[in-house]
Amino acid sequence: MKSEHYEIYNKSCYGLGELKDNSIDAMVTDPPYGISYQNNYWDKDLPDKKIWEDSVKVLKPGSFGLVFSSVRLMHRLMVALEDAGFLIKDVMFWSYLNGMPKSRDVALDIDKELGSESKVVGKYNYVQGYKKNGAENYYAENKKLKYEPTSELGVQYKGSGLGIKPAYEPVILIQKPLEKGLSVAKNIIKYGTGALNIENTRIPYAKGETKVGHNPHPKGRVAANIIRTEPFSDEYDKFFVIPKVRQKAEEFNDHPTLKPVELMHHLVKLVSFENQTVLDPFMGSGSTGVACLTLKRKFIGYELDERYYEICKKRIDAQKIINESLLF
Ligand SMILES: C[S@@+](CC[C@H](N)C(=O)[O-])C[C@H]1O[C@@H](n2cnc3c(N)ncnc32)[C@H](O)[C@@H]1O
Repeated sequence: MKSEHYEIYNKSCYGLGELKDNSIDAMVTDPPYGISYQNNYWDKDLPDKKIWEDSVKVLKPGSFGLVFSSVRLMHRLMVALEDAGFLIKDVMFWSYLNGMPKSRDVALDIDKELGSESKVVGKYNYVQGYKKNGAENYYAENKKLKYEPTSELGVQYKGSGLGIKPAYEPVILIQKPLEKGLSVAKNIIKYGTGALNIENTRIPYAKGETKVGHNPHPKGRVAANIIRTEPFSDEYDKFFVIPKVRQKAEEFNDHPTLKPVELMHHLVKLVSFENQTVLDPFMGSGSTGVACLTLKRKFIGYELDERYYEICKKRIDAQKIINESLLF
């Protein structure tokens, strides 16, 4: 589907065959993390390095990109991005504080291994994975039993687990090198790329806050590499605050790794300027695209899965109608 403001493709992004070399101003993407999240077939592996090589080709020299990642595999993704030709500039943390720790009770495994029967000590009232009658929350409703270890070694390891609570998602800030021989200013003059949009992503001062620093900027602080979902309660907030979205916030959108449009807004704004073109090779249900359309950026997106592509189409169509009514 194509228009003056967007191009979205229901196909694999590999090759990016529709795009000319050095034609795209920025990239914002949330690719598969390679962690088999909720057993999604498309999340089994990290993307092949080839897509980053393809991206380097189509992006203009000096252009920036933001790539979501997982804590466990961001190192591999960063190496792939670097090997493909990108410079690693920073890693932003979208810190949501309320992640679900995925651990297991090792003490009970020890009991099992030693042939010792663990003791039932009660029932859980909340277990992820069980929803009653389409309820919003996951409740076990006294269905899942709680055990305690009984073997000597099991008791010694009581409460031990395998993981800590995941409370942030990394977003890797990358840049395609400037054209050889060009300064930043010359690169911007030739391509319009080479700088971050700091002016329009400043974090406004909190209400009642006295401006700090020697030369306080009227629009607020420079955007930080930490984005949070909750404000700090003990001091003025120096970070961008963007809450998580509930899955199915839009009834028709059940993409399992939906990103908040507000977050994509901030990221799109940081790496691009009005009337520029932003690429998302792994657009899912199109959160980057919706953000681009509201910010007067042209969007180009790819999505392999037809169902997600159709959801994306619906969201883009809805945004198009809003924009037309605002005479964008
Ligand atoms: C993490 S999700 C993106 C979710 C998106 N940020 C949103 O808010 O809806 C990654 C998406 O990449 C898609 N994908 C995986 N491999 C692909 C490929 N080779 N080409 C295009 N899309 C692909 C998956 O189907 C999945 O929808």
